[in-house]
Amino acid sequence: MRPICLILLLLFTAPAYANEHYRAAVDSIPSKIPDRIVLNWSGDPTTTASITWRTDTSITQAEGQIAEANASANFTTWARSETARTEKWEQNKNTAHFHSVTFKDLKPNTLYAYRVGSDKIWSSWYQFRTASAEPDDFTFIYFGDAQNNLLALWARTIRTAVLDAPHADFIIHAGDLVNRANRDSEWQEWFESGDWIHAKIPSIPTPGNHEYYKNGVTRRLSVLWRPHFTLPENGPKDFAETTYYTDYQGARIISLNSNEGREEQVPWLEQVLKNNPNKWTFVTFHHPVYSASDGRDNKDLREAWKPIFDKYAVDMVLQGHDHTYARGNNIGNGVTVRDTTKGTVYVVSVSGPKQYKLRKDRWMTRGGENTQLYQVITVSDDTLHYRAMTAVGELYDAFDLVKQMGKPNKLIDRAPQSPERRWENTLEKKDKDDKVF
Ligand SMILES: [Fe+2]
Repeated sequence: MRPICLILLLLFTAPAYANEHYRAAVDSIPSKIPDRIVLNWSGDPTTTASITWRTDTSITQAEGQIAEANASANFTTWARSETARTEKWEQNKNTAHFHSVTFKDLKPNTLYAYRVGSDKIWSSWYQFRTASAEPDDFTFIYFGDAQNNLLALWARTIRTAVLDAPHADFIIHAGDLVNRANRDSEWQEWFESGDWIHAKIPSIPTPGNHEYYKNGVTRRLSVLWRPHFTLPENGPKDFAETTYYTDYQGARIISLNSNEGREEQVPWLEQVLKNNPNKWTFVTFHHPVYSASDGRDNKDLREAWKPIFDKYAVDMVLQGHDHTYARGNNIGNGVTVRDTTKGTVYVVSVSGPKQYKLRKDRWMTRGGENTQLYQVITVSDDTLHYRAMTAVGELYDAFDLVKQMGKPNKLIDRAPQSPERRWENTLEKKDKDDKVF
């Protein structure tokens, strides 16, 4: 690439304020106080909940406490304790202990409160509701890549999303949560941006290419992925906590690891789709089946996985990676839309500030550029309501999917009439001399 092209590309895609420093980037040193508290499901969401958090290495014995939540503060006296599993993670002054507990034998559809800590140093009490044991309505938020300038510019997306959908039952993160897999300060920014949201609403994260680092010639999962999360280990061997599934109130949510061993995951994927008693099925992974940007095709992934999504009529595939917005369904060869009324709906989205160009040929029904987004998806019996919203809370895309006995889902397009947001019609960048480009 010629140097001038490289400079132009960097200007075009580089996040704003790249040289500014936020507290997390300067100081992500652990202390005795629990931080990076995150709620996940590693087991059945009706009866279990898993919590992971960080302290400095002076905390060697940590625990979680849980009680049924009550309007009387006396609920705290009814709490029971669970001893934490503790593992050491070493990186100079950021060396930390990561602790985790899995609360078991919880009652379904019940509001609980928990806290984590040790001796006299504790977190807040965080409230969450266990899943209903029967199929029931639910709502979740889905984010594409957060990745860059997290505290500066991703925080607004997650905050707006949760104010929009305050009763969301879980949040899907479709990879590239951070930019540099092993950079502790970036993870600090990710956790600090969500703060109590991560502790209260369960996260379902899937790893992106930026959660991988080069180790000689091989690429490996971030050394901070598994310490940070407590996720199901029900996936294929060698894909612990990256390929897994969770059943929630009549839906199966599947995370695939699109970074490695795509073929290897196929027999497992086929099994969890074949033996699926749930009405709705969502699959999330990072690299899209149909790319939304030119020159980023994932042909081998499409050939390995799409026939299985078709065979088992997966309802939605939620992806990231291309730093644009695209939504389409029943796609033929990757460049044309055959029939937009049926078939798996594929979405590519982006929640952070880094933005690319949309590909020229169109498989997508609705596309977008230069826009930070979040998605809110509500399932209510036979109907799914989907909204893509911008980081400033404007409706950008919408549709309903309706289950039809023995037939593919019916898609009712509810996209707003507003033109697609493209580089040409959205806010330009301005430099310090007021020059617009
Ligand atoms: Fe990315």
